[in-house]
Amino acid sequence: MAENYYVTTPIYYVTDGPHVGNAYTTIAADVIARYKRLCGYDVHFLTGTDEHGLKIKRAAEEKGISPRELADDVVGRFHEAWKRLNIRYDDFIRTTEERHERVVQEVYRRLHESDALYLGEYKGWYCVSCESFVKEETEGVKPNCPECGRPAEWNAEPCYFFRMSRYEARLLDWYENNDCVRPETRRNEVRSRVASGLRDLAISRSSLDWGVPLPFDPAHRAYVWVDALINYVSAIGYSDDGDRFAHRWPADAHLIGKDIIWFHAAIWPALLMAIGVEPPKMVFAHGWWTHNGEKMSKSKGNFVNPDEVADEYGVDALRYFLLRELPFGQDGDFRDASLLQRYNSELAGDLGNLVFRTLSMMDRYFGGVVPEPGGEPGGSLAEAARTLYDDVNGWMNELQFSRALDRTWEFVRAANRYVEERKPWELAKNPADRNDLAATMYHLAEAVRILGLLIAPTMPASAASVRRQLGLADEARALRDALAWGGLPAGTRVTRGEPLFPKKD
Ligand code: MSP
Repeated sequence: MAENYYVTTPIYYVTDGPHVGNAYTTIAADVIARYKRLCGYDVHFLTGTDEHGLKIKRAAEEKGISPRELADDVVGRFHEAWKRLNIRYDDFIRTTEERHERVVQEVYRRLHESDALYLGEYKGWYCVSCESFVKEETEGVKPNCPECGRPAEWNAEPCYFFRMSRYEARLLDWYENNDCVRPETRRNEVRSRVASGLRDLAISRSSLDWGVPLPFDPAHRAYVWVDALINYVSAIGYSDDGDRFAHRWPADAHLIGKDIIWFHAAIWPALLMAIGVEPPKMVFAHGWWTHNGEKMSKSKGNFVNPDEVADEYGVDALRYFLLRELPFGQDGDFRDASLLQRYNSELAGDLGNLVFRTLSMMDRYFGGVVPEPGGEPGGSLAEAARTLYDDVNGWMNELQFSRALDRTWEFVRAANRYVEERKPWELAKNPADRNDLAATMYHLAEAVRILGLLIAPTMPASAASVRRQLGLADEARALRDALAWGGLPAGTRVTRGEPLFPKKD
């Protein structure tokens, strides 16, 4: 039976439609999901929306509509955006769905029954934008949120507390013995924060009505962050469908941004420990994008709009750029100039050109029919492809997309060098070189086939075009086998298409 792979994105607030930060996580999740499917895994890719809480309630009030109306409206924009960006998720969960709310209640009931909760009063500061409790630094001074910098609000109300402090030792043990929080620097940060002592966490609100009512005390609503985190298990049948849950859990990778690491790498595993469920295998926090050197903000109006970039460069180029430009886990700058530069040199130049000239020459010299390679076993090109699968697979398993693409582009450049070295146009002049020409063209087409497979997770539309041009149906074999040199049948009829990435000024 195929191995499982369960990957998630954060569920996004429905205050507004998606921006490039959300698109980044979702594209990364889509790429690893597509990659694992290519490798033959039974993949489950979950995304969705976070629709309860004060932040949403206020955003709806500002628009003069109900929170549900706001959510229904904005969720449509997420669906559209993900469709446009070619995101192939397996499930999309909304926290206002009955299937989710039921599980939230069940989790609270289990927490309550296992004596992980107690009733108290929260008096303190709260950041509505981050939906998080803010520690007061200097008594009597109104603090700003350490995460987003906005002023916190005073809040005093009865609420249930989660005995988070109980899980200190188990959390430390988890960080110590598992490669569970990445990158390493993030794990160290979270570990030292936990080691410096945990406070119990308020996990219900009694002053707010836009949330899931607690089953044992309906005057309280679930704290929106706990509500949201539960999506990762509610969507796969926790407490509802034991087989389905056991089949998928623990998640292989929760992909998130670095700003929400505490919720995912400390609060979430502690909650799971409290209800006797294993923590996820990995939480991976990526960095934040700036735009042309500046922090993106509403007031500056300088958000990168994924739709506009896709209009200008194409969806595949946007996906490629986001994953290629910075190592997953690090902060980076979205520079318009760098996008143009990579587009022209790496996509139009290196890859697009290779595909275009290979198929053109196949047309010209062999009437579009792939010849027998003859004696030559692939020479320098086959050699350049030899460790390709192992190298790319290693980087992909580490979620180092940029390294996997680097390695792939080494091969693209090797193929372009091969063209320059073998000079098919010279070979074509001399009938005595016909066999050499056939071998050269076969190996070039084979390189294009291999690239068509390797770029498929990042650039699915371009990969499909490559396969169409090569006259091949979808690949049925798992990637490792499909990449074995010589997989392209001689006699295949190819059809050159338009350039994949037309050059831009
Ligand atoms: N609803 C919570 C997540 C709950 S998950 C159980 C939330 N939602 S969000 O709509 O604010 O989306 C946040 C995601 O977008 C985070 O992973 C965050 O890191 C990411 N980004 C927001 N701005 C970003 C950048 N400028 N750059 C990269 N990612 C950014 O938090």
